[in-house]
Amino acid sequence: MALTQMTEEEFKLLSDLIYSYCGLTFTGSQKILFNKRVKTRVEKIRLSSFKEYYQFLKFDIKKEQEIKELVDILTVNETFFFRETAQFDILFDQILPEIEQVNKSKTVKIWSAACSTGAEPYTLAILLNEKNYYKNGWNIEIVGTDISMSALDEAKKAQYSEAAFRSTTPDIKNKYFTKTSDGLFQLDAGIISKVSFKYLNLLNDSQMKMYRNINIIFCRNVLIYFDNDAKQKVVENFYSSLTNNGYLLIGQSESLFKITKLYKLVPTAKVLLYKKD
Ligand SMILES: C[S@@+](CC[C@H](N)C(=O)[O-])C[C@H]1O[C@@H](n2cnc3c(N)ncnc32)[C@H](O)[C@@H]1O
Repeated sequence: MALTQMTEEEFKLLSDLIYSYCGLTFTGSQKILFNKRVKTRVEKIRLSSFKEYYQFLKFDIKKEQEIKELVDILTVNETFFFRETAQFDILFDQILPEIEQVNKSKTVKIWSAACSTGAEPYTLAILLNEKNYYKNGWNIEIVGTDISMSALDEAKKAQYSEAAFRSTTPDIKNKYFTKTSDGLFQLDAGIISKVSFKYLNLLNDSQMKMYRNINIIFCRNVLIYFDNDAKQKVVENFYSSLTNNGYLLIGQSESLFKITKLYKLVPTAKVLLYKKD
């Protein structure tokens, strides 16, 4: 029997469960999307009602795996190479020179938190290569993390469609990507080797505790999906992950105003930098 529309009560039960698991909230038009995607999932695993699905997510022995599957289809994985380049400019003009000077070291850990299919951390690796950082003795570890397992699988494959290159110059595209027989663009193996990818839920304290001594965190275009409580929890955990003098870079349309006072705000011409002082 086909499932009927989700009731308000069912929506509340399921959306609260998702919220407490990973901070995602669904309001306005996203509520319709939530309904549609959960319905598709419930039909796929052949359960007969949303209530039954809720019980499954709460109590079944496979609940952890199922919630990961559900979150996977609820996340928005939109990303592209060279997105919001002002932040990369600041990284090279200000942050990396400062780290070298203050720490007297060329060893740097960069974390791309919520990296989706990998365009953000790979953009960093391409830029580091273009600017000869690897040749000049810098030891730069880049880790990309995300809650979407399918996005992480795509990131590891590193094959992209044309849409991922809307901000990439033809020179860079030709230099680092090779067209595959199915019309995708495969990233150069040398760049792939500069980035590692791991599963991480930003709202999971014990997973967040694994990340320490990070010099720079990019967490862009994900906090917009969280309410203020979830945002606060995430960025305060980032604070513990950063080294002293470490930087947090969030999306250009995002701000931590009224979210936390932990960071020192370093305004620059185009972006807001948040610094652990
Ligand atoms: C719109 S993409 C942003 C990708 C990239 N940072 C950028 O700016 O292009 C948002 C990503 O956040 C991830 N995400 C959402 N909630 C998350 C959570 N609780 N923990 C980790 N990642 C999460 C989604 O899976 C998605 O890949």
